[in-house]
Amino acid sequence: MTVDRSWTYDRYEPDRERLVESLCTLGNGRFATRGSAPECTAGPVHYPGTYLAGCYDRRTSLVAGRRVENEDLVNLPNWTLLRYRCLPDDGPPGDWLTPDSDDLRHSDVHLDLRGGVLNRHLFYRDAQGRGLRVGHIRIVHMGDAGLAAQCTMFRAYGWSGSVEVESVLDGAVVNAGVERYRHLEGRHLTDRRSGFEPGGVAWLTCRTDDPGRRIAMAVRTVTRPVRPARQDANRTGTVQIYRLPVRPGRSATVVKTLALRTSVDRPAGDPLAAACDAAANAPAFPRLVTTHKAAWQRLWEQGELHVPGEAGHILRLHLFHLLQTLSPHTAELDVGVPARGLHGEAYRGHVFWDELFVLPYLSLHFPEVARALLMYRHRRLPAAREAARRAGGVGARYPWQSASSGREETQELHLNPRSGRWLPDFSRLQRHVNSAVAYNVWRYAQTTGDRGFLHSAGAEVLLEIARNWAGSATYDSALGRYRIRGVVGPDEYHDAYPDASMPGIDDNAYTNATTAWVLARGLDVLEELPEGRRAELSEQLALDDEELARWEDVSRRLYVPFHRGLVSQFEGYGDLAELDWEGYRARYGDIRRLDRILEAEGDTVNRYQASKQADTLMLGYLFRPEELYALFARLGYPLDDEIWRATVAYHLSRTSHGSTLSSLVHGWILARQQGADAWRHCQEALLADVADVQGGTTGEGIHLGAMAGTIDLVERGITGMEAGPGELRVAPVALAELPRFAFTLCVQGHRGVRVRVLPGRLAVRVPASPGSPLTVVLPGERRVTVAPGEERWFRL
Ligand code: BGC
Repeated sequence: MTVDRSWTYDRYEPDRERLVESLCTLGNGRFATRGSAPECTAGPVHYPGTYLAGCYDRRTSLVAGRRVENEDLVNLPNWTLLRYRCLPDDGPPGDWLTPDSDDLRHSDVHLDLRGGVLNRHLFYRDAQGRGLRVGHIRIVHMGDAGLAAQCTMFRAYGWSGSVEVESVLDGAVVNAGVERYRHLEGRHLTDRRSGFEPGGVAWLTCRTDDPGRRIAMAVRTVTRPVRPARQDANRTGTVQIYRLPVRPGRSATVVKTLALRTSVDRPAGDPLAAACDAAANAPAFPRLVTTHKAAWQRLWEQGELHVPGEAGHILRLHLFHLLQTLSPHTAELDVGVPARGLHGEAYRGHVFWDELFVLPYLSLHFPEVARALLMYRHRRLPAAREAARRAGGVGARYPWQSASSGREETQELHLNPRSGRWLPDFSRLQRHVNSAVAYNVWRYAQTTGDRGFLHSAGAEVLLEIARNWAGSATYDSALGRYRIRGVVGPDEYHDAYPDASMPGIDDNAYTNATTAWVLARGLDVLEELPEGRRAELSEQLALDDEELARWEDVSRRLYVPFHRGLVSQFEGYGDLAELDWEGYRARYGDIRRLDRILEAEGDTVNRYQASKQADTLMLGYLFRPEELYALFARLGYPLDDEIWRATVAYHLSRTSHGSTLSSLVHGWILARQQGADAWRHCQEALLADVADVQGGTTGEGIHLGAMAGTIDLVERGITGMEAGPGELRVAPVALAELPRFAFTLCVQGHRGVRVRVLPGRLAVRVPASPGSPLTVVLPGERRVTVAPGEERWFRL
């Protein structure tokens, strides 16, 4: 199988530069730097950005006459900035050169996915025929998560003289990467100071206010040939100016090596002293590249996925960005899954429910990273308890958008760019995020076999969520069932009934069904806890038999609305008006953001049977058909293939796919159902970022859920793979467009299990060490044991 291991843009196009910057971001799970041109500062075309995982700052802004608070992932000083111009011996100084200069003749960007190296080549020629070739090589070190480096080479053609270079550490940055947020306060860095240390080290310190964190960046600049620098430092940064002689056949290089330290690093210490030391003592560039590539090599071995062809090419890019956002370094940090990666400022770096699409992959390849991300939730259990209490409830209520403290960070107003109006934002009513957290805890433990986690932090999270759900359900005697009212489902379009004075809809099928599942799992966890631990936890959480009896009752009698014999999206959904889909498509073309279109027309999407993304159908993503039918049977509702297929067809035809998660989920469900359109949806999910299908949003940050989800779609979706205690279940479905692929995973403590899929066949190889066999369960409950060191092929 051949896989293209690079990602290339072979010319400079200002209009797509922000997309290139996002997709060429380099990161190591601790921090990331957008793939911006080193020559440029922020402007309409370019947007350099460096983001440190979990580094947020809260500010107050005045928007539409209201004071609103926003916690943003902070854009850190730009360490990559490098300005240059030619000083020919036989003429006046040239202009400062950038990809936007008239003299640019060629520019390409080449991202080496295997080694994690970004290359940019530029060639300029002026009116006198003097040429300058410039090559930049950048890494963000995957081995030492505090380091990054950039090497720039200059080569002269047809002239002699020198290149004047300004190596800048630019602290005059703000958060301004998303046009829609332009009214929000974007100045986050205060108390900036800068200076120099011997050995060409420039430094800059600054801090965020709330939560307060000191940040220190030190950049060592080394030139070949060695030349002294003129240096200048002011409040917002440093500049080191060099004149490097060049002539045909003799090139010059500049290497910038960054060390990044903060006041929350471990071990604790003075971030500035630590950054300066690390920059001064960092190895030379070639050595840094070698060790960086070696670290990537180890990651690829653990995360390897081989899919031939164009799909494989894109999947590799997805995996690359996933591992740059969430790497083994992340396991050392207290951070969640940022929906848009560390690649831009969209959604302000917040953590939503998207980990639901990310954790399955991590649990199977990097279980310690998955566990750390769940611990992010566990550490915020007190905040979730407080949120539940404030809402008059019990247990824990996780926020729809989370950042540093774990409090609710969802904006209160959002801008419709089409109408220019600021609108109330009720997306915080998406309480289903609670079920996602509980689901992730349970699935992680099932996949990895990490009972230690499940019985400690995991149980606390899951039980407190279950308690919150049981407390939120109200009994409706007319229905003879429990209801959960005033919520928003995954489909954010419906945040109220038409003409209602209160936000929220009632009995979202997804919310209620997942609630029933969480309650049942809560009871299961208590059941499986060792005796002593169960008593301890029951006492700690003050859980008594009466409360558990209520969980049991609610888990069996929650209401799930149906209409036309199908699972509804929420109570009353079937009574809403039908939208003229064809008419809207004909009028607007792209109607993914139907909510904005209708609002701008003075209408509201709340009136229509029209969804932004998979909502009811998310149930088919989380649960295999048998599991789903069993869940419904427990609730006393008949559900079978026929009803479910009709439910899928009904909702799918009423969805505008205004989220990248939508095509992913539909692709998954249809692939599992062998549905005709499966590949079209899978392909849309694959193209979500590389073709920027949501119209310009990728430049503001990648869609991490869709990226991780597509990898998982191949690995778990197509193989039907599920890891359980001591065994690996497989139930492959054929997806003609992806007939062959292979990957390596870590299942129940077996590291390096290799799965290969060929048309009609599947192989499992168990590594020779640690030496225990693995049971593979095939469709029809055929159980086969694969011995250590053995590879077994199965006909399907
Ligand atoms: C989607 C949410 C998602 C969020 C962050 C929104 O557009 O509707 O489901 O969690 O983006 O990715």
